[in-house]
Amino acid sequence: MDLAALLDRIADDVAPEIGRGAVADYIPALARVEPRQFGMAIAEVDGSVHGVGDWRRPFSIQSMSKVFTLALVLAHDDGVWTRVGREPSGDPFNSLVQLEHEDGIPRNPFINAGALVVTDELAHHGDATEALLRFLRKESGHPEIDVDSEVAASEAEHADRNRALAYFMASYRNMRNPVPAVLDQYVRQCSIAMSCHDVARSAVFLARHGLRNDGSRLLGQSAAKRVNAVMLTCGTYDAAGEFAYRVGLPGKSGVGGGIVAIVPGRCAVCVWSPGLDARGNSVAGVAALDRFTTLTGWSIF
Ligand code: DON
Repeated sequence: MDLAALLDRIADDVAPEIGRGAVADYIPALARVEPRQFGMAIAEVDGSVHGVGDWRRPFSIQSMSKVFTLALVLAHDDGVWTRVGREPSGDPFNSLVQLEHEDGIPRNPFINAGALVVTDELAHHGDATEALLRFLRKESGHPEIDVDSEVAASEAEHADRNRALAYFMASYRNMRNPVPAVLDQYVRQCSIAMSCHDVARSAVFLARHGLRNDGSRLLGQSAAKRVNAVMLTCGTYDAAGEFAYRVGLPGKSGVGGGIVAIVPGRCAVCVWSPGLDARGNSVAGVAALDRFTTLTGWSIF
């Protein structure tokens, strides 16, 4: 398959969707992003990468960071599963409602409450953000990848919902470190800036059943399968059913407008376009992944 030609065709097909939706505005620094941007990259398991549009332009990875922090924590051990569940929430990513009924145990690691627990657990093994940056820089081949401090400051200033989630879990003894320290790490992780190229290259270990770009193993085959399974069922929050229906791949979105999706055994795909639908997923991004699996037949179903 000529993946470069495929990407050109997808970009043409989704052109009417680019700029649709609304940029995230609850983090003011994200509200200033120009919505009419689109990029897409495919990183294959053999190491080749193809891209189209703004595929080399860095953007705020936001909740896509949650895939990498989960993988890094599972690379140590699977103890985190005593502190977070594996069921879709059916609620928005920053919802508080289930936590009280479920004794401070978040439904899954991809809603904000679950990711706060993962970051807390990762921090037990050292500096969580440094571990994440080290991994992303190595896999992408771009040592300059870093936290966007303007986005981080803006997000920290408007983090009352996440603060509430973290303190609420602390009241159930489901926080090991002090809440301000966990929140600081979480915000910095979400504020990392990367391009579609960098994200796809950094996620392709999930298509390679746990093997990194240098051939070393991050995760066992079973743990890699589990991360993909949770991405499929929980990666796009209360739209996970619709995403599976349209795209048919494990995927994780972020409110910066990025979505990363995995085709096990073949490739990782990252698409970016800042306009979001009501549930926080990129409008043109979902459309592009829909075209991708339709044209290639590479859904998991
Ligand atoms: O914590 C937040 O609200 C943001 N840093 C991340 C949310 C996000 O990306 C949800 N994804 N669609």
